[in-house]
Amino acid sequence: MRAGNLDCVTLPDLPAFPVSRPRRLRRTPALRRLVSDVALRPADFVLPMFVREGITAPVAIASMPGVVQHSQESLVKAAAEAVDAGVGGLMLFGVPEAKDAQGSGADDPDGVLNVALRRLHSELGDATVLMADLCLDEFTDHGHCGVLAADGSVDNDATLARYAAMGLAQAETGAHLLGTSGMMDGQVAAVRAALDHAGHVDTGILGYAPKYASGFYGPFREAVNSSLVGDRKSYQQDHARTVSDALAEVALDVAEGADIVMVKPALPYLDVLRAVADAAPVPVAAYQISGEYAMVEAAAERGWLDRERIILETLTSIKRAGASIVLTYWAVEAAILTS
Ligand code: PBG
Repeated sequence: MRAGNLDCVTLPDLPAFPVSRPRRLRRTPALRRLVSDVALRPADFVLPMFVREGITAPVAIASMPGVVQHSQESLVKAAAEAVDAGVGGLMLFGVPEAKDAQGSGADDPDGVLNVALRRLHSELGDATVLMADLCLDEFTDHGHCGVLAADGSVDNDATLARYAAMGLAQAETGAHLLGTSGMMDGQVAAVRAALDHAGHVDTGILGYAPKYASGFYGPFREAVNSSLVGDRKSYQQDHARTVSDALAEVALDVAEGADIVMVKPALPYLDVLRAVADAAPVPVAAYQISGEYAMVEAAAERGWLDRERIILETLTSIKRAGASIVLTYWAVEAAILTS
């Protein structure tokens, strides 16, 4: 409120201008640094990597510029570089040469993913956190995350047996965390029971819950040479539900033994991430997925966005919303930028 008498200059208790000035703390880089709340650390970032059977040199993924399908050899080298850059972990996806209805390559010890995990574990030991995607979609000829019933629907309980077998094969390789990403009901319990029964009590489970049926997975389909026709809406979550659906999924995963839960995708679901981070009694991760990566790379390529700035802004937003771990295809670059 202004002083009533404008001629009077002796009314310091009635200022003509705002007293509270948030801009004071934004004035210099040092002031901004002093009051910033969200910090990015290299160890926050996990690098998803693709390993493809039957190739001798990396193959580019057109819709994910800068990301490749690795050969076993190039994978080992790139993984070591990522670990040297300080990333917190690696998440491995396999791209097999042959696929079948059961996804047999998934639990075959000689399958592309298990071979890669074993090799990475022998090269890197406990120097990083080695994670494995535990899902059938890369290995099935129909491209679904589970096996199919006679009517063509995804058979939940028959799939659980396949996940248990896949989880055992992955645990045998020395992988530290298994990422149950298939969205079958009871998948964490089934894998946990199989692991414990076989003595793999220290192998952890990263539960993908909540995981939404999202168009942002588009480029990933190219990355794993997916043969999927249709969509995953009968098992992945509907983005039009409120966060209660997400919290129910998280509660189930935690009750079934998940050691970490992960929200996926990340940027379009920050409200869900916040709610999960507030409720979950375990660490919370978020997956900045292929489509989130692709849209920034595409816009940056055209000069429409400042790439590096956007990378850091999106990662900071994901952490601010409550993730303590972020899976991102920019993990190595982000680790270098923040170290
Ligand atoms: C399932 C899985 C998918 C992704 C991670 N795990 C594909 C899907 O659910 O359709 C997508 C990751 C990305 O888009 O970057 N194996």
